[in-house]
Amino acid sequence: MSIPLKLQPPPSAPAADLPAPRVDGSRTLVDRFGRVARDLRVSLTDRCNLRCSYCMPAEGLEWMPSADMLNDAEIQRLITLAVSRLGIRQIRFTGGEPLLRKNLEGIIAATSSLVTDEGAPVRIALTTNGIGLHHRIEGLRAAGLHRVNISLDTIDARRYTAMTRRDRLSGVLRSIDACLRAGMDPVKINAVVMPGVNEVDIVPLASYCVNRGAQLRFIEQMPLGPRDQWRRGDMVTARDILARLRTRFEMFEVGDPRGAAPAALWNVRDTATGVRGQLGVIASVTRPFCGDCDRSRLTSDGTIRNCLFSRAETPLRNLMRSGADDDELARAWASAMWEKKPGHGIDDPGFLQPDRPMSAIGG
Ligand code: 5AD
Ligand code: SF4
Repeated sequence: MSIPLKLQPPPSAPAADLPAPRVDGSRTLVDRFGRVARDLRVSLTDRCNLRCSYCMPAEGLEWMPSADMLNDAEIQRLITLAVSRLGIRQIRFTGGEPLLRKNLEGIIAATSSLVTDEGAPVRIALTTNGIGLHHRIEGLRAAGLHRVNISLDTIDARRYTAMTRRDRLSGVLRSIDACLRAGMDPVKINAVVMPGVNEVDIVPLASYCVNRGAQLRFIEQMPLGPRDQWRRGDMVTARDILARLRTRFEMFEVGDPRGAAPAALWNVRDTATGVRGQLGVIASVTRPFCGDCDRSRLTSDGTIRNCLFSRAETPLRNLMRSGADDDELARAWASAMWEKKPGHGIDDPGFLQPDRPMSAIGG
C-alpha cells in the first residue's frame, strides 16, 4: 500500500489551543484535541480460524504475505518504544486471531518486563476468539498476560456455526471456563449483535455469562466487515439490547464515569436464578466515545493507525528496515497520532469504510 509517510510538521494552528507534539525524549502520543494515547492495540496477524460473517467473507481474505509482517524483534522494538518513550501503559494483542501467531507467549514475556512512565509494569491484554485458549491460558498467564477478552456472539451451537462458519462453540466455552478457573478477573466476553441473526441470543448469552461469573459486553455492529452488509437503519442499537436485557435482569447502571473505557456497565441480577453480575453495552455507533479515546493501533505489517476508521496510515516497517533510529520512529508515531480526527464519522453523509478489514487492523 503506498500511503505517504506523514513526517510533515503538524499544522501551526491546531483546532484546540494545544502545543504541537514535543520532540524531546519524553513525548506522549497526544492529538490536537488533547487526547493522550495510553492503550496500544497490536495486531499480530490478519489470519483467523473463524469466518465471522460481520468480519470476513466465507472464503476468507487475501492474507498478508509473511515478508510484509513485522517479525518478533521488530514488534518488540516498537512496543518498547511505545512504553518507554511514548507513554503507552497498556498493550492489547489482537488479530485476526492472535493465538495463531507463533511465539505469542514469547512476545508477551518480552513485553511484560517493560515499565511505564508511571513506574508500573505495562498491562497486557489479549482479544481472542478463544479457540484453543484452554490449552494455553496457563502458559500465557505465566508469560505475563493479565486480561482476556473472548469473542462470543451466541451460545446456540447451530447459530454459532452459522455466524462464524465453523463448528467450534464447545471449544470456546471450554476456554471461557478455563480462564475463570485460572482466576482471570474479569473474564470479558465480547458479543456483536446483528439484526435478524442473533438478537434472540441476547438474553440466553447474558444469562450464561452472568451465571458463570464472566463479564459480557454487547457491541453495536460497526461498518467494518464485508461492504454493503451494514445499514445504519437496520442495526441493533444499545437501546434495543437494553430493552431485551430488562425482560430478564434487574439492572442498575454503574455510576462511575467510564473514562476511556467504552462500555457502559450495569450491575445486574438474573431474575431466573438470583445470580448477580455485570453486563456492559458498547454503543460504538449510537453513543460514540471518540472524545475519550486513548488508543493507538499497530497493524501486523507495521503501520500506525490513529483510529479504527482512519483513512490514512503511517508505515513504520520500511522506516525501521531502512535503518531509522528510535527518535525518527517516535517522531513519525507522534505525528500520526497528532492527526487523529475528533470522531469516527459513521453518521456523516460522506462516511467511507476503512480500506482494510477489521481483521487486518486489529479490534
Ligand atoms: N463491529 C463491531 N465489533 C466487531 N468485531 C469484529 N468486527 C466487528 C464489527 N463490524 C469485534 C469482534 C471481537 C473484536 C475484535 O471486535 O467480535 O470481539
Ligand atoms: Fe476471526 Fe475475530 Fe474476524 Fe471472527 S471477528 S473472523 S474471530 S478476526
